[in-house]
Amino acid sequence: MSKPQKFKTLRGFRDFPPEELQLRSRLFEAFRQASVAFGYQEYDGPPLESLDLYVEKSGEEIVEQLYAFTDKGGREVALRPEMTPSLARILADRSRSMPKPIRWFSIPQLFRYERTQRGRLREHYQWNVDLVGEDSVDADAEVLGVALTALRALGLGPDRIRARVSDRRLLAALLRSAGVPDAELLAAYSIVDKVEREPRERTIERLVDEVGLTPEAAGQVRSLFDEPGLDGVRASFGDDPAVTEGLEAMEAFVGIMEELGFGAYVEFDLTIVRGLAYYTGPVFEIFDRGGELRALCGGGRYDNLLEKVGGESLPAVGFGMGDVVLSELLADEGLSPEYDRGVDFFVISIDDSDRGLARRVAAQLRSQGQSVILPLRGMSVGKQFKAAASEGARQAVILGPDEIERGEAVMRTMADGNETTVSLRRLLGGE
Ligand code: HAM
Repeated sequence: MSKPQKFKTLRGFRDFPPEELQLRSRLFEAFRQASVAFGYQEYDGPPLESLDLYVEKSGEEIVEQLYAFTDKGGREVALRPEMTPSLARILADRSRSMPKPIRWFSIPQLFRYERTQRGRLREHYQWNVDLVGEDSVDADAEVLGVALTALRALGLGPDRIRARVSDRRLLAALLRSAGVPDAELLAAYSIVDKVEREPRERTIERLVDEVGLTPEAAGQVRSLFDEPGLDGVRASFGDDPAVTEGLEAMEAFVGIMEELGFGAYVEFDLTIVRGLAYYTGPVFEIFDRGGELRALCGGGRYDNLLEKVGGESLPAVGFGMGDVVLSELLADEGLSPEYDRGVDFFVISIDDSDRGLARRVAAQLRSQGQSVILPLRGMSVGKQFKAAASEGARQAVILGPDEIERGEAVMRTMADGNETTVSLRRLLGGE
C-alpha cells in the first residue's frame, strides 16, 4: 500500500487553532469597539469579484498579485486583494438613497499572491474603515483617529507606534515644481513609495528611466526626501503657492489630530505616498517606532473611485489595517493577550455513582450561562483534578459522598486552591 499523502497549508496561508483564533478574535473585538465608538456600521461583501473591478482601479502592484482565474461560466474573476473596490461597487448601487456621510467598516479576509516574508502572507484579514460623502479635513482626521483608538486599546501608545502622514496634492506640487509632468505623477508616486527601501542611486535611475526626468532633475527630486518633515519642505519650497496651500492643509490635519487626543502619534513625512493608484489627497501609514516591521495600517483620501465604478461622485477617505503585522508587533512588545480557554466550571464526582447528580449540577450551571466541562467516563479523583487543570477551568465543583449527605458540595478555585462549601440545593437551582 502506498503511503498516504500528507497535506500542509499552502505557502502564505494560515490555520487558526484555538489559541490563534482567540488572538484574532481579540483583535477583531478591538476593531469593532473602535469602529462603533465613532458610529461606524459593519458591512461585508463576497470574497470573489469580477477581475475588472481591480484592473486599473487598484494599481499595477496589486493586479500583479491577484489570484485570478476563469470560472466555469467563462467569467474572469479574482479573489479580493483589498476591500476598497468592493466598497465602491456596493455604494455605487445604493449611495444615492443613503444619508451622508456614510460611516462603514468591515473585516474581510483578503488574498494577494505576494513573495512571502515577515509580515506579508498570501491571505490576511484587514480591518477597513471608510467615511464616504465628506471631504473635510475633519473627516481625514476622524478616520485616522479610529485606527489609533483600536491600537491604543491594544496597548500600543505613541511610545510604540507612530502615524506618518502626508498629502498627495502636496507631493504633486513639489514634483511638478521639479519638472515631473502630470502624466507621470503616478509613476513618480510608486518610485517615491519605495524611497526608504531602495538605494539613492536606484531611485534616481528609476526617475530617469520611468518618469523621463534628466539626471539633474531626478537628483533634485530625490533630495526632497532628505528632510521629509514639514520644516524641511517649508524651507525649500515655502514660496510656491500650491506647496503653501498643501502645507496649510497638513498643518490643519495635524492640529485636529492633536485636539482629538492623538497628537503624540502623528508626524508629517513626505515619503508616505502609498502604493495604490486611487488616492487623491491626505495619505497615512502607521508603523512601529522601532522601524522593525512593515506598515500596520495604510489609508488616505480617494475622491474619484466611486465615480469610476459607475456611482455617484462622492469624496471618500479610509484605511486598511492588517492582522499579520499587528499580531507580530503585539508579540514583540509582550502585549499579546494570554490565551484563556474560558471554562468556568469542571464538575468532579468522587464516587462514580454520583455522576448523575454531576450531570444535573452541570445542566443547571449551563442554564445560567456558565460554561461547564463534565468528565465523559468514570475516572479517579486525581485524574479528574488533572483534567480540570488542563482544561483551564476556573472552579471545580467537588461532589463527595459526605458533603452530598449534608446537602452540600465543595467549590474549589483552581488558581489558589481555596475551597468553600455551597448548598447543593442552590447548585441545583433551588433557593
Ligand atoms: P494596503 O496598504 O494595501 O491598503 O493594505 C493595508 C494594510 O494591510 C497594510 O498596511 C498591511 O498591514 C496589511 N496587508 C496588506 N497586504 C498584506 C499581506 N500580503 N500580508 C499581510 N498584511 C497585509 C489597502 O488595501 C487599502 N485598500 C486600504 C484602504 C481602505 N484605503 C482606503 N480604504
